[in-house]
Amino acid sequence: KGRGKGGRGLLGFQAVPPSTDDKIKVPAGYTAEVLIPWGTPLSSRGPAWKKDASNTAADQALQVGSHHDGMSFFPLGAGPLGSRQGLLVLNHEYVDQVLLFPDGDAQITKAKVDKALAAHGVTVAKVAQVKGRWQLVDSKYNRRVTGSTPVTFSGPVGPAHPALKANTKPMGTLNNCSNGQTPWGTYLACEENWNSYFGATDSSWKPTAEQARYGVSGAGGGYKWHQADPRFDLAANPNEINRFGWVVEIDPFSPGSTPVKRTALGRIKHEGATVTESRGRVVVYTGDDQDGEYVYKFVGSAPWKALRALRKNPLDHGTLYVAKFNDNGSGQWLPLKHGTGPLTKANGWADQADVLLRTRQAADAVGATKLDRPEWVAVHPDNKDVYLTLTNGSGWDNKVNPRKPNPYGHIVRWRERRGDNTATSFEWDIFLLAGDPAYDPQVTLAPEDVFGSPDGIGFDRDGRLWIQTDVSNSTQNRPDRGHDNIGNNQMLAADPRTGEIRRFLVGPRGCEITGFAVAPDQRTMFVNVQHPGEATTFWQAAPTPQNPNAVSSWPDHDPAGRPRSATVVIRRKDGGVIGA
Ligand code: FEO
Ligand code: CA
Ligand code: CA
Ligand code: CA
Repeated sequence: KGRGKGGRGLLGFQAVPPSTDDKIKVPAGYTAEVLIPWGTPLSSRGPAWKKDASNTAADQALQVGSHHDGMSFFPLGAGPLGSRQGLLVLNHEYVDQVLLFPDGDAQITKAKVDKALAAHGVTVAKVAQVKGRWQLVDSKYNRRVTGSTPVTFSGPVGPAHPALKANTKPMGTLNNCSNGQTPWGTYLACEENWNSYFGATDSSWKPTAEQARYGVSGAGGGYKWHQADPRFDLAANPNEINRFGWVVEIDPFSPGSTPVKRTALGRIKHEGATVTESRGRVVVYTGDDQDGEYVYKFVGSAPWKALRALRKNPLDHGTLYVAKFNDNGSGQWLPLKHGTGPLTKANGWADQADVLLRTRQAADAVGATKLDRPEWVAVHPDNKDVYLTLTNGSGWDNKVNPRKPNPYGHIVRWRERRGDNTATSFEWDIFLLAGDPAYDPQVTLAPEDVFGSPDGIGFDRDGRLWIQTDVSNSTQNRPDRGHDNIGNNQMLAADPRTGEIRRFLVGPRGCEITGFAVAPDQRTMFVNVQHPGEATTFWQAAPTPQNPNAVSSWPDHDPAGRPRSATVVIRRKDGGVIGA
């Protein structure tokens, strides 16, 4: 395979070798600069980052959040100007409470819950090239949406729905993993592992069948917020949890606007919300990232421009479907529509709101196909083929999950009938099996291209497929788990026409690489590095308040500091197109 810049096809950069260094690695001729790490004040007059984590909740609400994830770039200005300045909008998926507080997480107080809430959510940040370097700049658009920001609901589960009545007004978005961008200029943040923030102080509390299906438990997921804040106590405030599990629409150009949870897109552990359009209608693909869960799509009921002309939101009017993958390579989209198929009153489904509040159970009822942890979805800009990462899983005795177990993950691809993304049938194949041929002979990647656990995925305008990895830290670099040739988590580019694949970036220790955005001129790429220094069982001890740098001190490399999630700006020294 051609490896040099002169190679034909879409990939023109020199492959980056695997690495276990505590550094960002990019190809020869490229630069990578750190931008907006966790704690960066969003205004030049804002509270400065304190490296001992002593910033308060009020400080944190004015600073960039933690655990950067999905991200979009909204140009500010037309033509070349829009590639030199724009709004970077990014998710902050979760927090590491050991790193978030000076004294760690053994004791959780209300003040600590408030700070953790302020470190979650979304950042809107104006970034611009100043003297040739991308920087955060002061702007009326700079804004944080956090776990405490007022929000509202739209669609079949509207703001007055009894299931949403709780002890406070609706607020906050949590565990915002991947994202989406609508053609009308708004941002979609998705709520993934929202169940883990809730617990019950009453030890006799038991989840309903619907809650158990989402993994809700009285013990909670380790954050212990319910011990300090009754908002997250399932026994004291039972409906608060119904406010989570949705796709949230945020207008970055309207800093005073209230984020809206678009309930017609269903209630799952939404990994992302990839938007495309066919026949003028909006189509939104969304994975439910858990082993054995499903992939969904929402199809608008009418062209989105026509709906907007009637002052209707296109995400409030349409049908939610779930995918069935047949072993013969065909597939169907099964509607989750009240009154259709098994979703009837006679079967205990009250109405469409009930179907949406219990989306997973509705998908079970219609016979959707279990998948190995469905994460991000990407739609090819020209032929509209759809690519889905199945990051890893146990395998489900069907051909769409061909390995059992599946520690390395794979990418499934489908073409909707006649290339129309609104269609209800499709043809699928396996685009690639991730892994290392030294351990799994079914893997056809060249030894220098090995990777595991594809997660983030997206196309640039030229049709390069960018793939980001999230091998867990219990597996990363371990020979006993077949990951010693793979190195730290990374980003690769693929040419879907030829199947060629090449490693583009390697992250620092303990991180995952997740979330990216490309400026319109394709000469700048923003990439997120999440949880550098996360605890691993292989490298070294987990970080502690006394020694938070046990695994990584990226990006500051300050022995008195702590590792921080951050965005990285990638450019070419010759100013060329990224990846070409
Ligand atoms: Fe937040 Fe499924 O990754
Ligand atoms: Ca992910
Ligand atoms: Ca992760
Ligand atoms: Ca993941």
